[in-house]
Amino acid sequence: MRTPIIAGNWKLHMNPAQTTEFVAGVKDQLPDSNKVEALICAPAVDLDALASAAKGSNLKVGAENAYFEDEGAFTGETSPKVLAEMGMDYCVIGHSERREYFHETDADINKKAKALFANHITPILCCGESLEKREANQQAEWVVGQIKAALKELSADQVSQLVIAYEPIWAIGTGKTASSDQAEEMCKTIRETVKDLYNEETAENVRIQYGGSVNPSNVKELMAKPNIDGGLVGGASLKPDSFLALVNYQD
Ligand code: PGA
Repeated sequence: MRTPIIAGNWKLHMNPAQTTEFVAGVKDQLPDSNKVEALICAPAVDLDALASAAKGSNLKVGAENAYFEDEGAFTGETSPKVLAEMGMDYCVIGHSERREYFHETDADINKKAKALFANHITPILCCGESLEKREANQQAEWVVGQIKAALKELSADQVSQLVIAYEPIWAIGTGKTASSDQAEEMCKTIRETVKDLYNEETAENVRIQYGGSVNPSNVKELMAKPNIDGGLVGGASLKPDSFLALVNYQD
């Protein structure tokens, strides 16, 4: 059985004081993490505050990006080894904003996945097509290509633990959610791709989130789909009430 995972992706929002206040406002009302994992992925500058505030609660903590080297002459980068020392459970990699604005390639993302696994942090691997690809009906081919490239040389054991986030770019921050059927169709295709690359068991274990304008009013319908195991949520994760409504969608 896959445990659902609802993750906030704060992007470039919040400071350490706001982070502490947010966690204080949610930490006693979170679901048991065996039932639903509730996770916040925050900017690197807030992670110390996030980890301290979340200590002893059901809130999982994560980063939004990491470099693929633990240390060295890489000015401005974030070390996956230090993220692990700070207690990070998860790290988002390959978000479409990183691919688009910071020119991250599939090869970079593959190296980041390996570096995170080496440091015992679970990657949340993002994939998703542009509006142009969707309109040309090339979305499945595109996403399958991203997945194959990102998983290169990862073991079945690693992929069993992985979280994949399907985020169609045209649905991110636009208020235009993919329909639950569109989201399910792609999450199913991703699971089938994992089965082809590995085996049935790995495909049954990997958790697949949908992301793109998820909010408290559409989360239930999305989560009812058999291949959708969670959500990666931007805008609707920034307020405690909205985050709590998302993670407690089963109530
Ligand atoms: P959104 O962002 O929920 O604001 O659409 C999702 C994401 O980019 O992870």
